[in-house]
Amino acid sequence: MNFTPEIIDLFFGGLKKQGPGDDAYTLRALRRLPTQQFSVVVDAGCGTGRQTLILAKELNALIHAIDTHQPFLNELARCAQKVGIDHLIQTHCMDMKDIPSIFPQIDLLWSEGAAYTIGFSNALKSWASVVNPSGFVVVSELSWLHNKIPNTVKEFFLSVYPDMHTIKQICEIAETAGYQVLETFILPKETWVKDYYDILEPRAKNLLDHPDSSVRDFAADIIKEIKIFHCSEESYGYAFFILQRV
Ligand SMILES: C[S@@+](CC[C@H](N)C(=O)[O-])C[C@H]1O[C@@H](n2cnc3c(N)ncnc32)[C@H](O)[C@@H]1O
Repeated sequence: MNFTPEIIDLFFGGLKKQGPGDDAYTLRALRRLPTQQFSVVVDAGCGTGRQTLILAKELNALIHAIDTHQPFLNELARCAQKVGIDHLIQTHCMDMKDIPSIFPQIDLLWSEGAAYTIGFSNALKSWASVVNPSGFVVVSELSWLHNKIPNTVKEFFLSVYPDMHTIKQICEIAETAGYQVLETFILPKETWVKDYYDILEPRAKNLLDHPDSSVRDFAADIIKEIKIFHCSEESYGYAFFILQRV
């Protein structure tokens, strides 16, 4: 999300999650890993940290939570303190493209719905340089799910995410970047709606007559995105990729 801090706060402030996802599916991905013992864990593009809190609780390990939006990290720190696990979460306001220079040896790199912000293939390649041999990368990424794509959906993504790939293509990208694909699975539709689109849509409608034209434009974009989602015929979705560094 490359928007102004004002836009991020207006649209995403106070949301439990900033993209499609759900605690049950974070846990499902975590439990697919053949070990649950990690020394260095990084959550890239953590947002307000829905998944960071789960990782910390489940692994009982320190999680380095990275995001460029400080208010999200403040909210994560507040939640972690509230549930008594603040000692397990260290926030870093930084760009995930700088991960290799700050974290030279990572055992588990997690990133839900955020790797695309530095280019999905580029993210996998650059993280491969610092994920330990046999270490893991778990990412979720927007993917084409089948090739019967309604024209309106195709046109929409051609303009907003021309780099979107199929799950098979993403697996090939991961293999080329130096990972073995352990598993993939698709997030069900309701993980987009509950606590995300169901809050974002009325918020966007209320902001359509905001005095700032960039806010109005963003509100219209969100409404369009949600409309496209409902007529997508499930041609795209978010998929999890559980990868092991080879
Ligand atoms: C779609 S949200 C996903 C947040 C969270 N992982 C979730 O699933 O709810 C993407 C997050 O990445 C952060 N972000 C965007 N570009 C970034 C970058 N270059 N480095 C670190 N974080 C970034 C945004 O501030 C936002 O919190």
